[in-house]
Amino acid sequence: MSKSSRIPGFYNLSVEERLKKVAEFANLTEEETKLLFKEGNLSFDIANRMIENVVGTMSHPFAVALNFLIDGKDYIVPMVIEETSVVAAASNAAKMMRSKGGIFTSATDPIMIGQIQLTNVKDPWSAKLKILEQKQEIIKLANDQDPTLVSFGGGAKDLEVRVVDSEVGPMVITHLLVDVRDAMGANAVNTMCEAVAPYIEKITGGKVYLRIISNLADRRIVRARATVAKEEIGGEEAVDAIIKAYAFAASDPYRAATHNKGIMNGVIAVALATCQDHRAIEAGAHAYAARTGRYLPLSHWEKDENGDLVGTLEMPMAVGLVGGATKVHPIAKIAVKILGVKTATELARVMVAVGLAQNFAALRALALEGIQLGHMRLHARNIAIQAGATGDLIDKVAEQMVKEKKIRFDRAQELIKELSEKQ
Ligand code: MEV
Repeated sequence: MSKSSRIPGFYNLSVEERLKKVAEFANLTEEETKLLFKEGNLSFDIANRMIENVVGTMSHPFAVALNFLIDGKDYIVPMVIEETSVVAAASNAAKMMRSKGGIFTSATDPIMIGQIQLTNVKDPWSAKLKILEQKQEIIKLANDQDPTLVSFGGGAKDLEVRVVDSEVGPMVITHLLVDVRDAMGANAVNTMCEAVAPYIEKITGGKVYLRIISNLADRRIVRARATVAKEEIGGEEAVDAIIKAYAFAASDPYRAATHNKGIMNGVIAVALATCQDHRAIEAGAHAYAARTGRYLPLSHWEKDENGDLVGTLEMPMAVGLVGGATKVHPIAKIAVKILGVKTATELARVMVAVGLAQNFAALRALALEGIQLGHMRLHARNIAIQAGATGDLIDKVAEQMVKEKKIRFDRAQELIKELSEKQ
């Protein structure tokens, strides 16, 4: 009989009982089951309250990047990521940026956009004006939903209305602009959108469908800027090589996607360490990169009058310190403490600073030495460990594989054998 993934009542089982069902389905060994069931630094109790159908927890490396001087303050930056080289590259880039004062950042107010989709209106342009005429009433209705946010200086601040053509006729899209203060904002904004929708229907006679936050958070923009002295990089020719790498991204979306991926290596590693909604950040970043209709790099690299390299990065950054998993996950709480950030905006500024440093590290490596050297060293260590190397042997096997340019599992196994016989 074929196995079925239809398991009635699965949701109501305990973590252990669910895991038993999965183990049966997937033929997990006892060892595999035990490993998945091992309670790490996230208890099952908390995990089970965070999401549904939990059958275990999964650990990732939690590292810190050093040397970050941002707006005159030193930060140790927690990063959670599975990819080798990223943390070392960030630390190294941040170090090179220190001699010119580090990284300087700025941010808009934390404004998120909520969208209300109105359809079935014969006269969409008139409906738009009817909504705008009731702007103060709609904002008041929205703010009645969240007196706490309002008491902290946040809340709905403005309203914009667009008529959008679609395959099924024109739609009238209301944007509620909400200052979400220290929250990522999805809950507050969605609640407000749902609350004002009936009123919008009433004044226009139309029908509202979607009421949801937009992840193109282009009113919540964070900027970072840094200068790297040409001597740090290896002279003006090296600066020019990095600018050429940037120019490639600015002219070619195939390269721009990878360029921006390098930025997101840093941004998302901090997002994971602090338990942010990293999908929202990714969606916002890429939509912002394509806002002109062409997908562009999020950063710019240029040369100043001294011939030094100057990098700037501007992107949406929807992060929160309250109201989300950051306050629930015990390790995220520790990550925030290590960072020492007091507001969501400060966290956002650090994240964009890390994105800029990460981008610089990648461009420098690519333009000046090729990315593989550094990557391969760390990759070789991973392969050595997978092949069974422990202790000193890990580095010895890795070094030899890099020297031979043969970073393969079978070679690692051979080397483990050879080198352990010698030891
Ligand atoms: C790899 O994770 C990231 C890079 O590809 C970024 C880039 O090419 O700029 C190195």
